[in-house]
Amino acid sequence: MKPRIFSGVQPSGNLHIGNYLGAIQQWVQLQDEYEALFCIVDLHAITVAQNPEELRRRTFEIAKTYIALGIDPEKSHIFVQSYVKEHTELAWILNTLTKNGDLTKMTQFKSKTGVDFEESEGSVSFQEMKERFNSVGVGLFDYPVLMASDILLYDTNCVPVGDDQMQHLELTRTLARRFNKRFGETFIIPETRVLQDGSRIMGLDDAHKKMSKSALSEYNYIALHDELEMAKKKIMKAKTDSGLDITYSEDRPELKNLLTIFALLEKVSPEEIVLRYKGKGYADFKKGLALTVFSFLEAFQNKYATISDEEVRKVLYKGAEYASRIAQEKMKNVREKVGFWQ
Ligand code: TYM
Repeated sequence: MKPRIFSGVQPSGNLHIGNYLGAIQQWVQLQDEYEALFCIVDLHAITVAQNPEELRRRTFEIAKTYIALGIDPEKSHIFVQSYVKEHTELAWILNTLTKNGDLTKMTQFKSKTGVDFEESEGSVSFQEMKERFNSVGVGLFDYPVLMASDILLYDTNCVPVGDDQMQHLELTRTLARRFNKRFGETFIIPETRVLQDGSRIMGLDDAHKKMSKSALSEYNYIALHDELEMAKKKIMKAKTDSGLDITYSEDRPELKNLLTIFALLEKVSPEEIVLRYKGKGYADFKKGLALTVFSFLEAFQNKYATISDEEVRKVLYKGAEYASRIAQEKMKNVREKVGFWQ
């Protein structure tokens, strides 16, 4: 039997090349070696307000995007999280093993909500922090526990993600260990898999913040569905330093980020790109990168247009059926261990 991978994307905004280069490109490569489950995590998306019709449309579009990016439905299982009820059931059980302190220390929670109790000794008062915390939805707070249940439900061996998810994976392992200790061996302790380069693609307008689908400026990211000319424009406008040559180094974060994107899309090393642009300046470099991004997006968008809604529906039903079977089996065991009457 092949080891299993599980991963997912929230249907909460435009997918961008950071999502592809940090996560989905890994999935495509791993789907031969592993038994693969790829989820569209709509339950996570509703931790912030969503327009119902848009959520339904985006969920479907993300499934189509997975396929257009190279996830092969003959090899991998693609499904929608809310369709498999066991995710929420296990999340509830794991909640009873989670401390509030496990969740208040999550960096994503802190950055999304501005709630950081350690910070309350500094510039923001404890009172102000308490008010911020009191106004945050319980779903957003509990988000990592639902994520743990996604992963543990399927006896996942490995989770390929971008580096912003590493802390959530650490909590997943902690909860699995706590459950196993209290109720006996039940869950596999999953590994995290992040790329050495590309696990954190930075914003084109600010190389100190990660590329994000919720960024305020559209010049932060290149969306997979960007119009091709617009994508080119975004590259040409990307922030750079005032240096003259093309080098790959930590102290030139803007250039390092562009080189990383370039190299990953061309599947070569950043050094190879540096060599290619030896003696040339930013204008040539950016034109080259814009061309590469253009071809990648064009191929993706053309493929996307050929996939029918009917095909996607079939893939999602088949995926949900497969996932449900594993999830139901696992929950039978979990219920037994916890002491539920069944
Ligand atoms: P989400 O939807 O924010 O992002 C999906 C994937 O894309 C990666 N990613 C990036 N990688 C590199 N550079 C970036 N700028 C960048 N931005 C995003 C993310 O690390 C992620 O791998 N909580 C998850 C979804 C989730 C999940 C799971 C993932 C729910 N349950 C179980 C794995 C396993 C999230 O919000 O991803």
